[in-house]
Amino acid sequence: MVDPIKNPYAPGAGTPPPELAGRDELRETVRIALERVRAGRPTKSILMVGLRGVGKTVLLDRLRQVAEASGLQTLGVESPENRSLPGMLAPQLRQALLRLSRNERAKGFAQRALRGLAGFARALKVKYQDIEVGFDFEPEAGLADNGDLEHDLQALLEVTGEAAKQARTALAMFVDELQYVEEEQLAALITALHRIAQRNLPVVLVGAGLPQLPGKMGRAKSYAERLFDFPQIGPLPGEAARLAISKPAADQGVALASDALDQIVQETQGYPYFLQEWGKHAWDAAEASPITLRDVERATTAAVAALDESFFRVRFDRLTPVEKKYLRAMAELGPGPHRSGDIAEQLGRGVTALGPTRSQLIVKGMIWSPSHGDTAFTVPLFDQFMRRIMPGDDWRK
Ligand SMILES: Nc1ncnc2c1ncn2[C@@H]1O[C@H](COP(=O)(O)OP(=O)(O)OP(=O)(O)O)[C@@H](O)[C@H]1O
Ligand SMILES: [Mg+2]
Repeated sequence: MVDPIKNPYAPGAGTPPPELAGRDELRETVRIALERVRAGRPTKSILMVGLRGVGKTVLLDRLRQVAEASGLQTLGVESPENRSLPGMLAPQLRQALLRLSRNERAKGFAQRALRGLAGFARALKVKYQDIEVGFDFEPEAGLADNGDLEHDLQALLEVTGEAAKQARTALAMFVDELQYVEEEQLAALITALHRIAQRNLPVVLVGAGLPQLPGKMGRAKSYAERLFDFPQIGPLPGEAARLAISKPAADQGVALASDALDQIVQETQGYPYFLQEWGKHAWDAAEASPITLRDVERATTAAVAALDESFFRVRFDRLTPVEKKYLRAMAELGPGPHRSGDIAEQLGRGVTALGPTRSQLIVKGMIWSPSHGDTAFTVPLFDQFMRRIMPGDDWRK
């Protein structure tokens, strides 16, 4: 009997996996970058990009833990839709600065930065009403208090950087879902980081977002592409995918037949979220160790149903009827990417008429444009889901 209580797999948004497989190289890259920043050497900020469910959030969380453990100052935020970047950053920055102010060498600098933060929040409050941050000091006139985000954020990160430098540490800002940050706010962030880099101050951004992020950054500031590295986070290659399943099982004294593992890798195409879902259901389907191909085959039905009810469903429910139709037409053409003209043809409409729908779907993060005139899903295997949830031809009406 395989004990359901011991089922190790962890499907979920941002739920740490039992084995963080296949990301060692990237983790090492980030570790080196952070140490370079701490040493005051020129270093690019890192923005990890990948589709939904590939493991950006859990990787970011892990990187942050490791950075903290090595004595770096960190902050972590997730940019939800409809929340401003300053509103999100201010409280976290305050926490980091309060910690820095406990350091003897950095104290004066950190307190000055906290004054800057007070001025920053007060001046920008009119524009970004969601800035809610405690004041520990009175603002210093002229420090980060112009009321212009581009200028003030730069000034604020500069004084923060000086404080971190005095403390012989660095501030690493971990920001998830960066594609939701509005272009003008993104531009301000890029400018600030540019200035920080020119002055070799120890502040660095480690971000994550959907594949449209590099393009969006480039539109916000043309030099952004040179300021950042954009490592791709994709599905796990065969060996890592197998390990993601077999290692957690082995840790519980459970084995998987080789063909059972192959089947999981094939069904999931190595996508981390799907691996967790298949692992979980294969475990629950098994009577005894080793888990067999037959167990996996039975698990497939349950795994697909679970995905349809959660991972896919939450995204589908946020769509308007017109958007659903657009995605269904895309799905008709297969996994993609697809030419906008071909999608329009499926719907019997013109490309221009569908422009607003397409734009809205990009804003919602459902699709992106890998190159001009091309459209692709941001959710892996979403085409199959759309055909399941909207079967037949009714959508053409
Ligand atoms: N390297 C990995 N090995 C095994 N499982 C992983 C790995 N990375 C992530 N997972 C699992 O995949 C699932 C999705 O991870 P996560 O939420 O970090 O993805 P994401 O890229 O942030 O997705 P989204 O774009 O929807 O926010 C989680 O259940 C997690 O445990
Ligand atoms: Mg995430």
